[in-house]
Amino acid sequence: MEKTFIMVKPDGVQRNLIGDIVSRFEKKGFKLAGGKLMSIPNALAEEHYGEHKERPFFGELVDFITSGPVFAMVWEGENVIATARQMMGATKPAEALPGTIRGDYGITVGKNVIHGSDSPESAEREINLFFDKEELVDYDKND
Ligand code: CMP
Repeated sequence: MEKTFIMVKPDGVQRNLIGDIVSRFEKKGFKLAGGKLMSIPNALAEEHYGEHKERPFFGELVDFITSGPVFAMVWEGENVIATARQMMGATKPAEALPGTIRGDYGITVGKNVIHGSDSPESAEREINLFFDKEELVDYDKND
């Protein structure tokens, strides 16, 4: 079954949005395969955001994501990668539609509440960066 990496960013954790965000994915019908509250070490942040290394906001991005605890999750279900992106809304909150997570809660492009993998390749990479295999449940085991 398809899996994606979703993370409530420090602003979302601080604003007590973990429950709401988890609830949205549960109600949609996706299954939580793993989840943990954690502080991201600098090296992990730099690796996670490696593709943005040359961007002018890279330092800001790493500083923000390491500024407080995040809630990292793995969700699974049919088309979960693309559907989660739709549920999150556009990266820039001003462009995110009402009803989406960023549309409802985000104000700035940096503090935009949530991160989600943008492709099957990044989902695999990000899940492996943040989770050990033993930390994930396998719902398909008895199929
Ligand atoms: P995310 O989905 O976590 O992946 C890359 C992040 O870069 C993105 O969400 C935004 O929060 C952040 N980002 C994009 N553009 C800018 C910007 N101009 N300034 C600060 N952060 C940005």
